[in-house]
Amino acid sequence: MAKVSPLVLQARSAAHHAHCPYSHFHVGAVVQTDIGIFEGCNVENASYGLTICAERVALFHALAHGAKQFRRLAVSCISARESDHPESKMPCGACRQVIVEFMSPEALVEIDGVGVWRVEELLPLAFRLPKESTPNPETEA
Ligand code: THU
Repeated sequence: MAKVSPLVLQARSAAHHAHCPYSHFHVGAVVQTDIGIFEGCNVENASYGLTICAERVALFHALAHGAKQFRRLAVSCISARESDHPESKMPCGACRQVIVEFMSPEALVEIDGVGVWRVEELLPLAFRLPKESTPNPETEA
């Protein structure tokens, strides 16, 4: 059996806190930062669109505690079976865009049972604002 990293083990444990009465799909995420490690799990809502994924909860959890550098992320979809297709264990598109906001292109994302990717591999050509501090004179009054 493949060796499991401590970060993935922690993501598995975080998944047990998921609030997922609708999908019954438990996800855990853990982010390693300059000020420590922060966990997240998916949180669903009766108004389905309000659901938030484990990855975003982990990143926002760290941010709310003052983290400035988001070094490595681990994700575990403990409800997916080993035989399920790998895409059932990968971060969704919305989470990939949020990951790009906080993590450097070279930072690593480890997906339980699937592999390790650089952020730039998970979301190539990610959307970024042109120059975040400079308004475009063509569109700004
Ligand atoms: N989910 C995550 O937590 N992360 C992902 O990247 C994909 C999906 C959650 C959202 C929802 O609660 C459940 O998995 C089924 O989509």
